[in-house]
Amino acid sequence: MPDTATRQVHHVTHPLVQHKLTLMRDRHSSSTTFRTLLGELAMLMVYEVTRDTPTQLVEVETPLETMMSPIIDGKKLVFASILRAGNGMLDGLLRVVPNARVGHVGLYRDPDTLQAVEYYFKMPTGMEERDVIVVDPMLATGHSAVAALDRLKALSPRSIKFLCLLAAPEGIAALHGSHPDVPIYTAAIDRELNEHGYILPGLGDAGDRIFGTK
Ligand code: URA
Repeated sequence: MPDTATRQVHHVTHPLVQHKLTLMRDRHSSSTTFRTLLGELAMLMVYEVTRDTPTQLVEVETPLETMMSPIIDGKKLVFASILRAGNGMLDGLLRVVPNARVGHVGLYRDPDTLQAVEYYFKMPTGMEERDVIVVDPMLATGHSAVAALDRLKALSPRSIKFLCLLAAPEGIAALHGSHPDVPIYTAAIDRELNEHGYILPGLGDAGDRIFGTK
């Protein structure tokens, strides 16, 4: 694969995205606010991620005449959510692409090694004909992302992209070290990880903030 097609990081800098992300970072934002903003950001970002989706022309009758007009081509898209924080983006994604299929990858971080350990994996059938967007709001160490992509690639989907809100430089390096062909879409690239694998300055634990578990 030519180098220009590898190690792509799409930084979504749209002012609406950046504004909502700032509100999400605020430690004083409630779980309700955090969840709502995450849903809105997912809706805005999926618009960028799906920009190059193939279309085909079909005949449509308007009230005035018949024309050829584009619709999305091929089998239904798959959103592959990395549990649990990925689920916080699903409602927004499905509002924009309501006929998408949803897969789940259950991974937890071993607190000592920070390595990803799989406990659940379920994808739709016919993956070899589908485009997959893997979703997790936080690309931190990249261990979960790499593990999810390893499993998904074994199913030979037509394409794979990775969508997050915040990426740490370490996570980008890890993901592209193992999967240089997978483009990353993110609203921000933060400074670094702390010793517990949290993104700095970050927004805290996304799962806890979505589900109000802390
Ligand atoms: N997961 C989170 O929820 N937050 C981080 O900062 C890193 C990983």
